[in-house]
Amino acid sequence: MRRFLIIGACVAAACHFPQKEATVAHTTPYHFDLPQWAVADTTLRMAIPYDNPTTVEGVALGRALFHDRALSANGTLSCASCHKQAHAFADPRAVSSGADGSTGRRNAQPLINLAWDHFFFWDARALSLELQAFEPVRGHREMGSDWGAVTDRLRHDPSYPGLFRAAFGDERIDSMRIAFALAQFERTLISLRSRYDRFAYEGDRTALNERELRGKDLFFTSAHCVDCHEPPLFDHHDVSNIGLDSLSADGGLGERTGMPWHWGRFKTPTLRNIALTAPYMHDGRFSTLEEVIDFYADDVRTGSPTLDPHMQPWVNGEVKLSEQDRADLAAFLRTLTDSAFVIDPRHGPAER
Ligand code: HEC
Ligand code: HEC
Repeated sequence: MRRFLIIGACVAAACHFPQKEATVAHTTPYHFDLPQWAVADTTLRMAIPYDNPTTVEGVALGRALFHDRALSANGTLSCASCHKQAHAFADPRAVSSGADGSTGRRNAQPLINLAWDHFFFWDARALSLELQAFEPVRGHREMGSDWGAVTDRLRHDPSYPGLFRAAFGDERIDSMRIAFALAQFERTLISLRSRYDRFAYEGDRTALNERELRGKDLFFTSAHCVDCHEPPLFDHHDVSNIGLDSLSADGGLGERTGMPWHWGRFKTPTLRNIALTAPYMHDGRFSTLEEVIDFYADDVRTGSPTLDPHMQPWVNGEVKLSEQDRADLAAFLRTLTDSAFVIDPRHGPAER
């Protein structure tokens, strides 16, 4: 899987992003605000394309665009309409409604720690953040706009030509620059400062209480959650079927590739800020963490033909969770909330 995606990413990058759009001389490199332990963690290597380095000016432009309704057909939606900062940039609605009022079939994912991700969307269809950003603007269920209309609108907004010049060297406004700037901004949405981080990486043994510690132990051992939700990011860069349904109505990766063995496989979500990103799963079917845990305890469809090999403990009937275990696991998941991130003014709309 991983090899397939990497090859795909190279092809996609080569097709869509010719090298001429490289660093602009007068820009300022962006300094990512990482906790010390994350700087030292050699497993954390950002996926930043050589032709779209992160700069202070590019991030400022991306931030303005992210919060601007001018990107949607009728001026009603910005990226932030569905990706809300208070919810770690996820959507509190099960499925989002687009600019034309129609509803989609998937839950909007949180936008956090994407600088370390290699594929995007529930079905892994976008292989870089640059490519990802092209989609919502045009998608009729999302912003329903077209690039000609968007670039025209931005040209008529007095603040944009200066922002584009600062980020890219001149005032030209085009879809590629918009996507590049959005990607730069999205990479700065880093959330690694939860109580769990204080406990696990900063030596504060008092950061978790007894119940949370019990939940943590279950998560990392007999409940097998860590098999796919691995720290520090609590994902495992894979696309899996966890047995939500015997036969998934939404094919996920399988709809993209046409491969029967990919049917019902979805991107493993991060569990960081999980208490803020309800509802849960690709279709937002569960409203609470308790419902999610009850699913893992009681309802995994072990007969699902494309069930992930990491679900073998469920097939073997090994995952047994008492009421106490479930409550403790939920308590542990709530320690993954980064309360400063969701009110950090650097990620909100800028004064323009
Ligand atoms: C109408 C609601 C809506 C709007 C507006 C919207 N999104 Fe999304 N976003 C979604 C949904 C729904 C998904 C999941 C879709 C899927 O996986 O098929 C998603 C997924 C994503 C992802 C993938 C995250 C991951 O972990 O793989 C990124 C990145 C993203 N959106 C960025 C943006 C940006 C940038 C904009 C503005 C240009 C935007 N979105 C506008 C609803 C929206
Ligand atoms: C086989 C890998 C795997 C294992 C093991 C696993 N998960 Fe998941 N988890 C996933 C995937 C994949 C999804 C998304 C599934 C979907 O939407 O179709 C998910 C979704 C979730 C969600 C919802 C996330 C969101 O943003 O909607 C939570 C919460 C969660 N898992 C917690 C747990 C807990 C707690 C355990 C242990 C009891 C666990 N997971 C075990 C892969 C796994």
